[in-house]
Amino acid sequence: MLEVRSPFSSDAIEEKAVFVLHFKMEKLVFIYTYGCQMNVHDSEKIRGVLSEKGYKTAETPEEADLIVFNTCAIRAKAEQKFYSQLGRIKFLKQANKDLKIAVAGCAAQDAKQKIFRRAPYVDYVIGPRNIQSLPELLLDSRGLFVTENPEIAEQEFPAQRDSATKAWITIMYGCNNFCTYCIVPYTRGREVSRPSNSILAEIGQLVNKGYREVTLLGQNVNSYRSDTDFPGLLRLIDRSGIHRVRFVTSHPRDLSADLIKALSDLPSLCEHIHLPLQSGSDKILSAMNRRYTYADYLARVTGLRNSVPGISITTDVIVGFPGETEEDYELTVRALQEIEFDGLFAFKYSRRNGTRAGELDDQLSEEQKNDRLNRLLPLQEEITLRKNRLLEGLVLEVMVEGPSDSDPSRLTGRTRSNKIVTIPDSGEEEGALVRVEIRLARPHSLEGVRADLVPAPV
Ligand code: SAH
Ligand code: SF4
Ligand code: F3S
Repeated sequence: MLEVRSPFSSDAIEEKAVFVLHFKMEKLVFIYTYGCQMNVHDSEKIRGVLSEKGYKTAETPEEADLIVFNTCAIRAKAEQKFYSQLGRIKFLKQANKDLKIAVAGCAAQDAKQKIFRRAPYVDYVIGPRNIQSLPELLLDSRGLFVTENPEIAEQEFPAQRDSATKAWITIMYGCNNFCTYCIVPYTRGREVSRPSNSILAEIGQLVNKGYREVTLLGQNVNSYRSDTDFPGLLRLIDRSGIHRVRFVTSHPRDLSADLIKALSDLPSLCEHIHLPLQSGSDKILSAMNRRYTYADYLARVTGLRNSVPGISITTDVIVGFPGETEEDYELTVRALQEIEFDGLFAFKYSRRNGTRAGELDDQLSEEQKNDRLNRLLPLQEEITLRKNRLLEGLVLEVMVEGPSDSDPSRLTGRTRSNKIVTIPDSGEEEGALVRVEIRLARPHSLEGVRADLVPAPV
């Protein structure tokens, strides 16, 4: 029998294997993230999935082997931001033929192969429900992966998180609401909820690592349904040992009495809710397919304020929805005056292809929309400041997040009600829970001094 000997000794083979492994370890990825918290967390998942394949995070796009754009399509502006950045890095691809460019997220799902036509130097297009397939996609020289993936709720992702104290947790994927202005149901697919035991296992691991806060993510967390409903899930999480629990976003139609009860009963649940109103006009709410009236919304707010002392309520509104008259707009203004939200995100309506509102004829001009937005902002600024002033003199629990961007001698943190507070830096670590006396209210933040340190929860 002829014996064929390998030209490599076994040592050499091992060396070669180590070299290949080493080569892989050197791969660097740079991620651009646009859009909502869901996307911020998806980028953490993308990093986690890639790190299992040996990728490390690049400090700059120039040094990267792979650049991922995790995109948003909610408004035209978000999409334009991504496309202009994509245009700006084209030269990197010309300089480095080995560089790979992947477009992920909502704009990827929306445009699919059209991205390749618009930017032929893009190598991969991958939808928000296909993150786990990214390494597989990278094995080919070019590819598209934009499936509905209904199994996503059963999948676990190795997220590589930005913070060591606060964590995002996806509890459900997709949206079934089809608000007529919104592209999300087309980009994120149908609603599916993760089983409670998988969510609890993830939170348990975070508690063991010292995390203090989780924010549960879903386009409409109130319609979470697996082996339990959303208030049931919150009750289970309350026993997990995590100190603070938040969630975004709530749809007013699905905000149940049981959820209000959970907010008032559960010590871990923070006294804040983001409850998008969108408009104060019933005619516009109906055209938006929101399926509640302003009176329904107001009743929810009253219920929340009666049951949860100190709750802060923030909202989103859209101005300039097709057919919005000055009278409709005035109803939104009146709603803001009547409810006095703690914070507001106001958007100009942006026409999205493929949505029902995008096909309506009575679109407003850019000038009209600008004018309505500009009148809304100072009004809310005044309300927010007035509400913040009510906190002056109170002692509140603040979780420290890190150095303040505007003043290096101060630290920034958040109250349970999600208000930003700055305090003089006396060496507190990220995640520290401190008691702070509020001294000065500003429209977008509070200034305080430390009253005492709360012992770490065990
Ligand atoms: N699922 C969440 C948030 C979705 S997007 C929810 O329903 O609350 C966040 C906000 O963007 C929405 O609340 C809405 O105010 C705004 N938005 C969505 N589509 C928009 C569009 N086409 N033009 C302008 N604003 C829009
Ligand atoms: Fe969009 Fe409405 Fe779904 Fe929110 S609930 S993601 S606004 S369709
Ligand atoms: Fe944007 Fe998609 Fe979030 S469109 S806002 S990234 S769900």
